Amino acid sequence: MRLILMGPPGAGKGTQARTVAEHFGIPAISTGDIFRANVSQGTPLGKKAEEYMDAGEYVPDEVTNLMVRARIDEPDAEPGFLLDGYPRTLAQVEELDGMIRHTGHELDAAVVLTVDPDEIVERLLRRAQVEGRADDTEEVIRRRQEVYVEQTEPLIEFYRGRGLVHEIDGMGVVEEVTKRIFDALDVVPQS
Ligand code: AP5
Repeated sequence: MRLILMGPPGAGKGTQARTVAEHFGIPAISTGDIFRANVSQGTPLGKKAEEYMDAGEYVPDEVTNLMVRARIDEPDAEPGFLLDGYPRTLAQVEELDGMIRHTGHELDAAVVLTVDPDEIVERLLRRAQVEGRADDTEEVIRRRQEVYVEQTEPLIEFYRGRGLVHEIDGMGVVEEVTKRIFDALDVVPQS
């Protein structure tokens, strides 16, 4: 199973990715998490990514694409993967197509979470108090939303054209949203 999980900042991608990936026995690969781990370890990749992330901008495609390619080549991703927050640009879509074609497989679905903008800001400001993520300030949240609308939202239509999009209402409690995703993917979750 090869899935991508899309949606604006704070839509619940990371939250849902873990449960969905676990169900399919595949890794949930979050580009944001990988970047953050590199930032906190002070690696060269982290140093390249940090200033973009802190400003709410996307890390350049060439950096992100190389990182995802390396992660997908790891043995645990052989049976499939769930990508959380990748692709976000047309260049990344093309790169991912190439990566998947190379393995002789296809992308199975693009799950898109939709959430009211006010709810998103509330969620992220709440998280800011708990986790203190550098990009969860009101100003940077606003910029992340703009960048998403400009660069990533158009990709949804692109995947819709391929018949891959499952648009999921991301409002409500976490478990309800998970159930909607499983229903859309036509799977029976293990309890
Ligand atoms: P990334 O970490 O992916 O951030 P994001 O897309 O802004 O998304 P978030 O992690 O904020 O939200 P989410 O949708 O995962 O929601 P979550 O489950 O956490 O990327 C960070 C940065 O890295 C980017 O800005 C960019 O700089 C760089 N980057 C990453 N990928 C890149 C790429 N492909 N190309 C270039 N640059 C890239 O939930 C949010 C909060 O809401 C949590 O506190 C959660 O507990 C809560 N919550 C979740 N679901 C619910 C619910 N149903 N009800 C109530 N609360 C909920």
